[in-house]
Amino acid sequence: MFKPASRIENVRYAIRNIVAEAQKVAATGKEILYLNVGDPLKFDFKTPPHLVEAVHRAMVDGHNGYAPSAGIPEAGRAIAAEAEKKGMHGVGPDDVVVTTGASEAIELVLTALLEPGESVLLPSPNYPLYDAVVAKIGARSIPYYLDEARGWSLDLAEIEAKVGPDTRAIVVGSPNNPTGGWYDKDVLSGLLDIARRKKLVVLSDEIYDRLTYDKPHVSLGSLATDVPVISFNGLSKAYLACGWRIGWMIFCNPRLTPELRRAVQRLADARLCSPTPAQYAVAPALEGPQDHIPEMMKRLRVRRDLTVRRLNSIPGLSCVEPAGAFYAMARLQIPGVVDDEAWVVDLVRRTGVLFVHGSGFGQRPGTQHFRVVFLPPPEVLDRAFDLVEQYVRARR
Ligand SMILES: Cc1ncc(COP(=O)(O)O)c(C=O)c1O
Repeated sequence: MFKPASRIENVRYAIRNIVAEAQKVAATGKEILYLNVGDPLKFDFKTPPHLVEAVHRAMVDGHNGYAPSAGIPEAGRAIAAEAEKKGMHGVGPDDVVVTTGASEAIELVLTALLEPGESVLLPSPNYPLYDAVVAKIGARSIPYYLDEARGWSLDLAEIEAKVGPDTRAIVVGSPNNPTGGWYDKDVLSGLLDIARRKKLVVLSDEIYDRLTYDKPHVSLGSLATDVPVISFNGLSKAYLACGWRIGWMIFCNPRLTPELRRAVQRLADARLCSPTPAQYAVAPALEGPQDHIPEMMKRLRVRRDLTVRRLNSIPGLSCVEPAGAFYAMARLQIPGVVDDEAWVVDLVRRTGVLFVHGSGFGQRPGTQHFRVVFLPPPEVLDRAFDLVEQYVRARR
């Protein structure tokens, strides 16, 4: 009777969809070990106190009304200054739009850019929001496959071959969710070359830029002055405040995209603003003490190493060492296992360990994976991998 729009059929978000299965298991009294969601606040990481104070002070000082659609000027200035420090070209405060998480930035840009039926190149695997938004607006995604054998790097020749006449943009994530992959300057410059020749906008997801283990992040917007790059970032991950819903987009080389910038502004105006008090934490985050980040990375490195070691010691499982973020994409090569979603569901039913299936992120056809979030403390990770190991060995 009240049928929803058919395009919503294709909107999927595996990271939360799988939780429904875990809740059924939890209702039977079984303990669930949640290794499925990239929220550091669920574990032993805390929002830096000076950011909490900044938001509290904003509320006490009466900043509880609507903010400008593109964000408060203090935030825009701090984000633009930070962009300049990272070498991003041509960025001023007007080239920044503060959004309700990086999620909304991604949604606004894709909506402003793509006509129904037009296409965008997306990595596979990839963070599933991109596919969900593309489906919602009736556009088309073209996957380009990340190469597990080369540390989940990308193949420039494949990308170039896949650009079609209706392709408008290419999305790149470094460090990447779900693979933990990271790209060097040469790879990113090659990608910009393709964008330059094929007239594509580059959408660069940099939400994990500060969370690399050995090599510093390279910002795409710093590598060219003649290619439009829109960078996404926010307070969720490195500043440990994902519930505040503060993200942003930065238009690098903005003189190349004035109409797109205006289209984003129209969409931003129509949704009013992102949460006002939390915007007051942006400048203190970017300009204030950063010592929680190396501290976080120290802990994450131990958890990453443990995860890689444990996964690679279980027969039928393997895992490439992540270079950034807090995810590992583990390969499943167990005879008879042809559906990673069914495997993940059976695993949570029998052991209580919850992962997200690789097919929820996209993957090279014929391969099976699952994504591990290694945010929990080592003892929890060890307990989870003990259970996984017993489960796998019992089924061989
Ligand atoms: C690659 C990537 N982009 C964007 C987001 C969304 O971040 P936010 O909380 O800022 O909306 C996430 C969240 O996990 C992510 O992994």
